[in-house]
Amino acid sequence: MNDVADRALKILRELRSITFATTKDGVPQARIADVMGYENGRLLCIVGNNKPFYYQLKEIGKVALVGMTPNYVMVRLVGDIRFVDDAQRDKVFDHNPDLANLFPNEDQRRSLVPYHIYRGKGEIFDLSGTRGKMYRERFSFGGETVHAAGFRINDDCTACGACLPACPFSAIAEGNPYVIDPNQCDECGSCYAVCPSDAIELPTGL
Ligand SMILES: Cc1cc2nc3c(=O)[nH]c(=O)nc-3n(C[C@H](O)[C@H](O)[C@H](O)COP(=O)(O)O)c2cc1C
Ligand code: SF4
Ligand code: SF4
Repeated sequence: MNDVADRALKILRELRSITFATTKDGVPQARIADVMGYENGRLLCIVGNNKPFYYQLKEIGKVALVGMTPNYVMVRLVGDIRFVDDAQRDKVFDHNPDLANLFPNEDQRRSLVPYHIYRGKGEIFDLSGTRGKMYRERFSFGGETVHAAGFRINDDCTACGACLPACPFSAIAEGNPYVIDPNQCDECGSCYAVCPSDAIELPTGL
């Protein structure tokens, strides 16, 4: 696990109540749920065992998460889930004591199914201003790989320079070919629109 992944997963755990998205029949479904723990490189969560959310997790085996700190640092990821044994549910209650207010006794807790998000990829997208106008960093964990963010300039570039002033994020550097910094590219597409040589390639997303 690299430092960016560790920082990202810690932020999600600290935010705790964030957006969890799945799909149902190809249609996106989003709701708030909780990141109940982070240890051994995995996130620990729970889901009510008869919720649509549960059946969607079971069917697709994946979930997308997104949350944001009060100073505009967004963390998002898409990951693989695995349902885990009931001992992990006890851990959830140990690490989140306030949950006992909602589910005071053992019988009521049985409906909660614990799962790990054990592998995934994502990014920190930082608009706090502390790392320049915008700074984004991709990460992966649990053996997943991730594409670099941003548009990319290929060898068809003639170094004409038209893209440089078009970029609101100062993400482009002169060269032959010109180069886009994946950590500073917002993927706004302004450079793509002005390139006379079709030398700028679209980003692939997470
Ligand atoms: C702050 C907050 C935290 C929540 N945490 C969870 C959670 O960890 N697990 C869960 O199953 N539902 C949680 N819920 C409830 C779900 O958002 C709600 O049951 C939702 O309807 C589930 O999605 P579904 O309708 O697609 O099943 C939480 C709701 C809120 C407002
Ligand atoms: S506009 Fe296109 S051809 Fe010109 S420098 Fe930028 S990438 Fe290269
Ligand atoms: S897509 Fe937007 S932010 Fe990225 S390099 Fe092009 S102009 Fe700059």
